[in-house]
Amino acid sequence: MRARITGTGSYAPERVVTNADIERMVATSDEWIRERTGIRERHVVADGQACSDLALVAAERALKAAGVSASELDLIVLATCTGDTPLPSTACLLQHRLGATRAAAFDLGAACCGFVYALGVADAYVRTGMRHVLVVGSEVMSAITDWTDRNTCVLFGDGAGAAVVSASGDDRGILSTHLHSDGSMCDLITVPGGGTRIPPSDQMVTDRLQYIKMKGNETFKVAVRTLEEVARETLAAHGVGVSDVDLYVPHQANVRIIKAVVDRLGLPLEKVVLNMDRYGNTSAASIPIALDEAVRDGRVRDGQLIMLGAFGAGLTWASALIRW
Ligand code: UT7
Repeated sequence: MRARITGTGSYAPERVVTNADIERMVATSDEWIRERTGIRERHVVADGQACSDLALVAAERALKAAGVSASELDLIVLATCTGDTPLPSTACLLQHRLGATRAAAFDLGAACCGFVYALGVADAYVRTGMRHVLVVGSEVMSAITDWTDRNTCVLFGDGAGAAVVSASGDDRGILSTHLHSDGSMCDLITVPGGGTRIPPSDQMVTDRLQYIKMKGNETFKVAVRTLEEVARETLAAHGVGVSDVDLYVPHQANVRIIKAVVDRLGLPLEKVVLNMDRYGNTSAASIPIALDEAVRDGRVRDGQLIMLGAFGAGLTWASALIRW
């Protein structure tokens, strides 16, 4: 029994914040942002719009594409670091709004690797008997972005992507997932406040600890190394070469990171999905949004070998190999 992605969907809020808009907030320039990151604009939620609102639209689109109804779902895994509330899980809010009456539901926290981790969970459950699992990556990064910090505020965006993973009798589907972590690098990307270590308080807000802090340059180097390593590990596990990969869908954090990785791997850029120019870094939503766009515009075709690659806070890094 294999687990196959039978439908994908995505959604980004209507409001667009361009680099020119950010030029008016902090000391930066459109040129710096484009050259250093590849980002031109990002989507940002409307007032009152939360993680489950984005997840709902992406999930409905994925279910429609798969031809699966919400009531057929056995499980919902929602990857996010920006859920609606600390309790209950955003996955449960989504379960109710979808009408997925039979589904178990939980959130998964692996930052930007969340979707690939969740795909690994879905794969394992489908191989052991479940029929349909909904995997979602949904993020409202704008809520944890410090709009006065030019080191981070130019990078992130809001959005959601989803995939229905279904049991399949044929050879196609998720061939494997490869999930890694190293918490010794936990201080590279962190939101220090708002949890149990530094609970919410006036002082926490004054110190702006509810916002994301990142050591960008160090993260950059680790990202290039881990993405290359996990790609090689994944290909070696199946005895296939880089030239066998039809499409690479990496986490959309920075075009320079992706170019460095594919350069080292010897993978031509034409085989890489890039969309951070229009979305920025949407954390766990980044890969499923890119995958959904590639499915819908025909770049992903039946029989192709598709590789996903992610890295993020934790640190975590991960990949998946899929025979579409
Ligand atoms: O998904 C989460 C994973 N996170 C990431 O993938 C992020 C990985 N890191 C990066 O993408 C890059 O490190 C950044 C885009 C964040 C920064 O690019 P960089 O080439 O590593 O720049 P840097 O941090 O070394 O900074 C270079 C200069 C500094 O000025 P000085 O010290 O050389 O005078 C920064 O202060 O650029 C300055 N700078 C900016 N200038 C204009 C930093 N941010 C900005 C900005 N606009 N927004």
